[in-house]
Amino acid sequence: MTPEEFRLRGHTVIDWIADYQERVETLPVLSRSKPGELRAALPEEPPETGEDFEAVMRDLDELILPGITHWQSPNFFAYFPANASGPSILGELLSAGLGVQGMLWATSPACTELETHVLDWLVGMLGLPEKFRSDGEGGGVIQDTASSAALCALLAARERATDFLSDEKGCDGRLVAYASTQTHSSVEKAVRIAGLGSSNLRLIEVDDNYSMRPDLLAKQIRQDREAGLVPCFVCATVGTTSSLAVDPVPEIGRICRDEGIWLHVDAAMAGTAALCPELRQINDGVELADSYCFNPHKWMFTNFDCDCFYVADRAALIRTLTVLPEYLRNRPTESGAVIDYRDWHIPLGRRFRALKLWMVIRHYGVEGLRHHVRAHVALARELAGWITGSEDFELAIEPLLNLVCFRHRGGDDLNMRLMEELNDGGKIYLTHTKLGGRITLRFSIGQTNTERRHVEDAWRLITETADGLAGD
Ligand SMILES: Cc1ncc(COP(=O)(O)O)c(C=O)c1O
Repeated sequence: MTPEEFRLRGHTVIDWIADYQERVETLPVLSRSKPGELRAALPEEPPETGEDFEAVMRDLDELILPGITHWQSPNFFAYFPANASGPSILGELLSAGLGVQGMLWATSPACTELETHVLDWLVGMLGLPEKFRSDGEGGGVIQDTASSAALCALLAARERATDFLSDEKGCDGRLVAYASTQTHSSVEKAVRIAGLGSSNLRLIEVDDNYSMRPDLLAKQIRQDREAGLVPCFVCATVGTTSSLAVDPVPEIGRICRDEGIWLHVDAAMAGTAALCPELRQINDGVELADSYCFNPHKWMFTNFDCDCFYVADRAALIRTLTVLPEYLRNRPTESGAVIDYRDWHIPLGRRFRALKLWMVIRHYGVEGLRHHVRAHVALARELAGWITGSEDFELAIEPLLNLVCFRHRGGDDLNMRLMEELNDGGKIYLTHTKLGGRITLRFSIGQTNTERRHVEDAWRLITETADGLAGD
């Protein structure tokens, strides 16, 4: 593809995306594709010779689009959002255009330095502890996901607890990690990958607000020490997946500090709320954390993937992950004056993700980002008010930010049927969880273009559909 042809096709693609943005709210949110449907429609073999661009775009419309669940629909209320925005998509395109692989500072200094700079900006923007800034002993790095961030935190914790011996000799089965029953499954995955073994992950019970009970954490740590085990890692969550509950980080942090245990704070979804000073109390206690992460690819208008991961002591992380073969040696690295992000995460290679984050922050400005976050939180509160005022529905928990957990009073079966009928209808998409042993519907408000009218229409649809089912 010559630059001239690229220009031409590029215009077509940008037009396609802009048209998609305009019409996405009219498409069925949850794909109606059946298992195997797309594969059956695709040719058995790849083309032997190149095809027309028009033919590919036609297949995009006719074959691919029906198999898309529209995460960018303003009627997407499922899971947590993976929102995006114009500046972010353009940043992604520029990153692809530059095609940089930024494993070392030397392999594209701007890729590293923009990342360091934007992550330092975010420390201020979110009111995070200064110790996470790169000009002290800490620093931030962009990871693909919160799952990878948790794994890296756990690996560094493992090494710190074993004086860097487990990197060399492997785990001896005595290291123990702690999280709550509500912690995201990525922590169990990390515990398995890091070689601790999932039987060495303790899931601490939660209180009525689904927040970890620090008294039970302290008790469990005591018991494990008495049994000759080595507690090394606690993951506290700011905004759990099921209900956006916040663990008591100040108490958990004090326990970790007194016990010399690494504290990782996972704020994957809720972390963005700290842009707004009036919501920043969610980060109380984070100053006691050894590491912290949040996902701009969830709620900060930056398309997947982009997780910001901070450590208070970058030396521990780097020493855990660094391996320096001859072919990566270079003068800037040896000078000690640069950051080589290859040592801050699992893969060697890395994309120029900071570009899209930088473009998002520059396009919206901090005040612009706050405006959208506040709008989502206000919508969630309004919806919660409608639920409280209805006879047939109840809140499962008072919404803290932008996730509304509620249920029909008619029981688990009715709630599941209600959700399935709503999702099959294609107008909205929401998902469920279990809270207190009962099926609970989750209504997550965070798509970039969700407005009051979408939430209002959704609530009307929910109540009408429920009336229909209750009358069956
Ligand atoms: C609290 C929490 N942590 C971690 C994750 C995993 O996120 P990722 O897909 O970035 O690994 C999620 C996903 O929803 C989450 O809610």
